[in-house]
Amino acid sequence: MCGIIGYIGKKNAIDIILTGLKRMEYRGYDSTGIAVLQNGEFTVRKRRGKVAELEEIINLDHLVSTCGLGHTRWATHGQPNDINAHPHIDTNGEVVVIHNGIIENYDSLKRDLKSKGHVFRSETDTEVVAHLIESIHKDHPDRNLDEIVAIMLGEIVGTYGLVIMATWDADKIVVARKGSPMILGIGEGEYFAVSDASAIIEHTRDVVYLNDGEMAVLTRTGYSVRDMKNKALDAEIDRITYDLDQIEKGGFPHFMLKEIFEQPESIFNSMRGRIDYETLSVRLGGISTHLGRLLRARRIIIAACGTSWHAGLVGEYLLEEYAKIPVEVEYASEFRYRQPIIYPDDVVIVISQSGETADTLAAAREAKSKGALVVGIVNVVGSTIARETDCGVYIHAGPEIGVASTKAFTAQVTVLAQLALMLGVYTGLDINKRRAFVDALKTIPDLVRRTLELNPEIEAVARTFYQSTNFLYLGRGYNFPVALEGALKLKEISYIHAEGYPAAEMKHGPIALIDENMPVVFVAIQDSTYHKVISNIEEVRARKGRVIVIANEGDEYIDKLAEFVIKIPVTIEPLTPLLTSIPLQLLSYHIAVLRNCNVDQPRNLAKSVTVE
Ligand code: AGP
Repeated sequence: MCGIIGYIGKKNAIDIILTGLKRMEYRGYDSTGIAVLQNGEFTVRKRRGKVAELEEIINLDHLVSTCGLGHTRWATHGQPNDINAHPHIDTNGEVVVIHNGIIENYDSLKRDLKSKGHVFRSETDTEVVAHLIESIHKDHPDRNLDEIVAIMLGEIVGTYGLVIMATWDADKIVVARKGSPMILGIGEGEYFAVSDASAIIEHTRDVVYLNDGEMAVLTRTGYSVRDMKNKALDAEIDRITYDLDQIEKGGFPHFMLKEIFEQPESIFNSMRGRIDYETLSVRLGGISTHLGRLLRARRIIIAACGTSWHAGLVGEYLLEEYAKIPVEVEYASEFRYRQPIIYPDDVVIVISQSGETADTLAAAREAKSKGALVVGIVNVVGSTIARETDCGVYIHAGPEIGVASTKAFTAQVTVLAQLALMLGVYTGLDINKRRAFVDALKTIPDLVRRTLELNPEIEAVARTFYQSTNFLYLGRGYNFPVALEGALKLKEISYIHAEGYPAAEMKHGPIALIDENMPVVFVAIQDSTYHKVISNIEEVRARKGRVIVIANEGDEYIDKLAEFVIKIPVTIEPLTPLLTSIPLQLLSYHIAVLRNCNVDQPRNLAKSVTVE
């Protein structure tokens, strides 16, 4: 949530900041702003809307500066408008602040500062930081900006990625991190502070991931990482490995469509070098040293949010069937607050595409504090969850920019399938079942490629139903989570109300919704639940519901039961979610396009949810 960039160096800061903000716009896109230092004073430009709109007004200004900061906002406190957009300034415009997170005690601090004569302009929690710095500076005029920020951090409570500048200690950027991502970019004679490394990869690939509770100071001649008391720390430099074309649309009209079509490669990459096709075993390097503890687990708890939670549900089926270890799947947001009973011999797996989701991170910390082994299944390399968990597996799906998660879901499921197999080898998994599983995994990228060829058919279904106001998604077994995921995809990008249910639950309530206007999307693969799902289809037909079915190639019986049938290739039952989820991703994509929705940046959402 919120994209942050600070720059100090020799180049034109405005271009660097605006390009970086466009790259990070998926993180938050309701308003945007920049501040640059010119002749010892800040010029601040900010407004509601997209970076491109901000750019138009900035182009008229002919600003020149080699030091500044910029922000794209996802509103928490105060509506998205020009005034609440970041940066925020102190009374005299001598301090500028951008922030990702929430200052929880802002109200009491604001009251106190107001009583001392500070005049606030916005409704945000962030503005309090600028005034607090101003106030501390008044009391300690001899101290420099980093010393004052260190004092200020002792007074605020909450989460933050902060980038701060002041005219009275110019040519310096001070950043601080607690609970929100912050990465330093180390260039040649130029330094960056960003919430997402994609913002700066054409300038440098050398980065320092700040840890929670760390600050950093950037000047024109170098950088230093400090603790919150401003004491110098050693910092390790990491290298970004992905390329610019991976974070661009590459000829597709939307990132979401590009990412859907990348799935043959992203699934392949999530398996690359991990499966031994001769011994029929899996090696997940990041967790192999913890194998004993995984195998001794009394149970596995999976905690995640949204799409990652749906992948976790598929993981529950996979791990119980193949590894024979009991699994519970929890919403991370509930798990962290309901005082869960966690034993030291539990294993908690947290799943997150971004690796920054606040609730998932808190669940990981809670489990760690109670002595469980915490395993991360994460996409973004170097993200907080990846670094804070005891061990983990990267899904290697590559950067996912579309707010609606697609390729991360299938890569997460592929990793969970490999984990189930890796453990199953030691828990008595039958050799024939192992062989069938490994053989099927090998063919999945090709089957995904074939499933994607159904795109024109799916677009035709979308054209029929895009004006519907409700949708129901039903599936069973391994495809129950797929039904949930299909409904989530549709509602988040097309704003159509959609519900996912286990098909058998329909008769316990949702069946009351069925009439001639209700499209019902069934996943009816020829698996162990096929005949039961067919009965559910009949029940919907009997009430005049409009039936769309995701079925298997070769299933002719289904043709007479549905208005539309999308036929996907056959694979073994546990891997069907890797194929059945794809037509549902495409269906929501096309419906959203037909409804003129902003597919990649749907209203009210942000890609990584770093606040509670
Ligand atoms: C998915 O389409 C959503 N945008 C959302 O539910 C997402 O999956 C959720 O916020 C979890 O994010 P994470 O995987 O980055 O932790």
